[in-house]
Amino acid sequence: MCGVIGYTGKQSAATVIMDGLARLEYRGYDSAGVATVFNGDLHLKKGVGKLEEVEAACLLSRLPGNTGIGHVRWATHGGVTMENAHPHVDCLNYIAVAHNGILENYQKLRRRVVSRHKLVSETDTELIAHLIEEYLVPGAPLEQAVTKAVKEIKGTYALVVTSTVEPNKIVATRCGSPLVLGLGKGENFISSDFQAFLPYTREVVFLDDGETVVMTPGKVHILSASGKKTRKDSVVLDVDLAVREKNGFDYFMLKEIFEQPQAILSAINQEKSALKKAANLVNNSQSVVFTACGSSRYASLIGRYMFSKIAHRFSDVIISSEFCYFGDSVDENTLVIAVSQSGETADVIEGVIEAQSRGAKILSIVNTIGSTLARMSDCVLYLNCGTEFGVAATKSFLSELVILYLLSFSLAGRQEEAEEELKRISELMDENLRLNNDEVPKAALKLAGHDKFYYIARGINFAVAGEASLKLKEIAYVHSEGMSAGELKHGTLALVEEGTPVIAIAPCDDTHEHILSNISEVKARGAYIIGLSDKPDKLFDIHIEIPRVNEYYYPLACIVPLQLFAFHSSIARSLDPDRPRNLAKSVTVT
Ligand code: F6R
Repeated sequence: MCGVIGYTGKQSAATVIMDGLARLEYRGYDSAGVATVFNGDLHLKKGVGKLEEVEAACLLSRLPGNTGIGHVRWATHGGVTMENAHPHVDCLNYIAVAHNGILENYQKLRRRVVSRHKLVSETDTELIAHLIEEYLVPGAPLEQAVTKAVKEIKGTYALVVTSTVEPNKIVATRCGSPLVLGLGKGENFISSDFQAFLPYTREVVFLDDGETVVMTPGKVHILSASGKKTRKDSVVLDVDLAVREKNGFDYFMLKEIFEQPQAILSAINQEKSALKKAANLVNNSQSVVFTACGSSRYASLIGRYMFSKIAHRFSDVIISSEFCYFGDSVDENTLVIAVSQSGETADVIEGVIEAQSRGAKILSIVNTIGSTLARMSDCVLYLNCGTEFGVAATKSFLSELVILYLLSFSLAGRQEEAEEELKRISELMDENLRLNNDEVPKAALKLAGHDKFYYIARGINFAVAGEASLKLKEIAYVHSEGMSAGELKHGTLALVEEGTPVIAIAPCDDTHEHILSNISEVKARGAYIIGLSDKPDKLFDIHIEIPRVNEYYYPLACIVPLQLFAFHSSIARSLDPDRPRNLAKSVTVT
């Protein structure tokens, strides 16, 4: 969460930074700001709201100068206010700091800084600006002050600093939050994500924790954690620039839902050797543990069923933020499968670090090439679904499923069979999407007055109920619960009353008969049933049609109309499904 960028070169820094911030906005859209250095002064503008709103109000892009830093914020310390927006400055307006991360020793630092400096915000970042101010000695380089200040802070950070004292210089350092250096000709870039500067350069250096970059337009050097100049090889990225085009759709989320038939085909397109290596890792391990958060965890739960059904391999799924509590059971015979669209989720990375410290091997399933998780794994399978701009996971979730299906079937030597069926599903999904994009909005509109929903399913579809419920919560702000239908009678049934909407996932697989009897139980208590199935049933008040697919593949067929349902529920409530409140696409705090 939060995105930082720094630029020094010949171009208008504010223009380059604003261009980059637009590509970083997925990391936070509570507020935005830019600081540049020009004619010996710091020029700073910032404001609350989405980037385009702040630009309209403050004209960030018109700031003068060729060196500057920028930030998009997802609030941690301090509310969403103008004062708390980044960049933050020192008392003398010499130093500007943008920060992604969170300081753990905030209270202690604040007590130390407050008596000696004028604090204008509640943020942890402002404290860093004042610490640098304390260590900035006339004639000594900015990096020396930054390095000393950083020794006092505990927590996670990607810091980008500029100063009027050395007007063409940017200093940046990281611990636990991503930072990538972009090497240009007569210009250099630093950012949380290389996509921010990809139109200008593809030659990058991924920084590791503790490293500090010092850059001017014509020169870059990197200091190791011990402060010594160090050599790091650059890589030239072979990735596409994420094009922020809606292609005729009103929202990225809807576009990405419609991209899913293609996403299936792109995910199938795996390096055969990578899939083989991944299968070997599974086969050579004694225990397999998935770790992931949010939608990626629901995908992992489906992977767990598939491992059992197809490969007869028992595995477990541990929420990444809980992983450390299971460390005692992890050793060199464990394979951890880390599933993450962004590859930057701090909880996942923390779990992986814990597992690696105990000797476990890491197989990761990620979308973002060059992400922290990808770089720390023994083997990586990529989703290949392109950038997902909608904050809610849609095509990335489906692509994670495709990889997990491929892996499960390849464990059993049946990979081709899976590929054939997945291709067939891609075609069926295309037709089904068109049908449901007419029908599902009507259901969403009809149910827009309800404030609690239950999603029920059994077996492999159970995790689909969880994922569909998560979608509704995050973009329509409606309370909902995704449940194993068998669990209803153990408590939750007490909440079902006349008219309560229950979305029942009832495909014609081995769960069909059983789920129908669970539907009867809730219907007898007055529930209003939205039945998702390839076969109509008189128990359904509304029937949402899904295509008929082979046994085991129903999660792919079921999730898509439920994504549409969440999307249209958001629209029916006049919300912005692309940028839901309080959330960000990449969750880089633990
Ligand atoms: C939900 C959603 C989140 C993410 C979660 C993990 O729609 O997008 O729940 O799935 O934050 O993110 P990744 O997969 O990037 O690790």
